[in-house]
Amino acid sequence: MSNDTSTFWDKRAKQYDRSMSSHDQQFDQRLTRLKSALASTDHVLDLGCASGEIALNLSPFIKTIEGIDPSAKMIELAAQKAANQNIKNASFLATDIFDPRLEPESYDAILALNVLHLLRDHQKVLTRVNTLLKPGGKLLVETPCIGESCWWQKGLILAASRIGLVPYIHSYRAEEPQQELTQFGFTILNATYAPQHDHRATITAQKKF
Ligand SMILES: C[S@@+](CC[C@H](N)C(=O)[O-])C[C@H]1O[C@@H](n2cnc3c(N)ncnc32)[C@H](O)[C@@H]1O
Repeated sequence: MSNDTSTFWDKRAKQYDRSMSSHDQQFDQRLTRLKSALASTDHVLDLGCASGEIALNLSPFIKTIEGIDPSAKMIELAAQKAANQNIKNASFLATDIFDPRLEPESYDAILALNVLHLLRDHQKVLTRVNTLLKPGGKLLVETPCIGESCWWQKGLILAASRIGLVPYIHSYRAEEPQQELTQFGFTILNATYAPQHDHRATITAQKKF
């Protein structure tokens, strides 16, 4: 993972945390969907957890949750909030998904929320996600499909990414995330696409038993 990525998100950590902590209606809807897909016995990994707001709010409803993120500042905020709220079953690591401390077949569910479009190597990451999940484990995805934005929005975002103002961004078309997950061996349990909310694809996929 490039240093540029962690520096970019480090700089935005406090602001990102403030925006997430306000819990708007969309946040509540996301949380409701995630809770309904998870069980109280689940061990969960949150890939790209940022400042941990989703992980901490899910923690009462699952067994354990581990959040990982390349931004040390995001992880610092997440760990601080867990300590302040005395949450014992959530832990946070500044690392990537290839960290050998993450054990194969140890997670009932992996969250990849607003992060897949930031990855350069989808094949490597999704193969690793598959390895880390238990057989039958769930992958819960939300991703903006920037390839569906109007031409000038898409143009602005991709130009900003090309000249290094923002990190790498993959310009997904609406149907692409589902196709990609199928291609890497997942079964799609549920998928929706919301053009009115950042052209967001929301998918529940499952590792084969
Ligand atoms: C848009 S935020 C999403 C945060 C959170 N998952 C959510 O949905 O609210 C993207 C996060 O992904 C992290 N990130 C960027 N590249 C990543 C990568 N290759 N692997 C894991 N996380 C990454 C960033 O540091 C940032 O915290």
